[in-house]
Amino acid sequence: MNIKIAPSILASDFSKVGEEVQRLEKSGADLVHCDVMDGNFVPPITFGAQMVRAIRPHTNLPLDCHLMVLHPETHIEDFVRAGADNITVHVETCDIPALFQKIAAYGVKKSAVINPETDVEKVFPAVEAGADMILLMSVHPGWGGQKFIPETLKKIELLRDFCIKCGRAELDIEVDGGITEENVKDVIAAGANVIVAGSTVFRSKDMAETVKRLRG
Ligand code: DX5
Ligand code: ZN
Repeated sequence: MNIKIAPSILASDFSKVGEEVQRLEKSGADLVHCDVMDGNFVPPITFGAQMVRAIRPHTNLPLDCHLMVLHPETHIEDFVRAGADNITVHVETCDIPALFQKIAAYGVKKSAVINPETDVEKVFPAVEAGADMILLMSVHPGWGGQKFIPETLKKIELLRDFCIKCGRAELDIEVDGGITEENVKDVIAAGANVIVAGSTVFRSKDMAETVKRLRG
């Protein structure tokens, strides 16, 4: 499977996000990961659909929107109109099959995500409901710069096995949080092919080199 790199703009300089997103595109990244937080599902507040609308004209890369919000069903239309290409919703916050129908009706990609403490089996129904991608959190959502939770590797393996068993061997599995040039190999070997990285990419002196190394 081809490995895709999705840097998170949470780690970018918010005072110049448009330029930061252009820098991401130049670095060879594949997706722009947008960490939406509402201060309820997770304690911090980051940004909403307006930020997605603001960065849309600055890049042709797909905007991968990770909604860490309660009542995600009330926000879908705003993110679609803002230019989101993929909308990822937390299994812990909604009825996935119903919400997937709503998202699909807009013609954008629909994905599901689970937290580190949520059993991997909880996201299997999203695979069967036609998810375009599954995101496994490898840190507790809310902040960048945290340490990778190693138990995530087993969840990636179990999820990839399940995808193979139900005929979706090629399904994108995205992993998010604490990924570095050191641990990315284990994450890919376990079966993930979409890598979210905030700090590792934005702290790098040579973004293109780091993206290349993360892609292996
Ligand atoms: C955390 C976010 C992650 C985080 C990744 O709630 O979902 O995307 O920003 O940042 P790093 O790569 O710094 O852990
Ligand atoms: Zn994220």
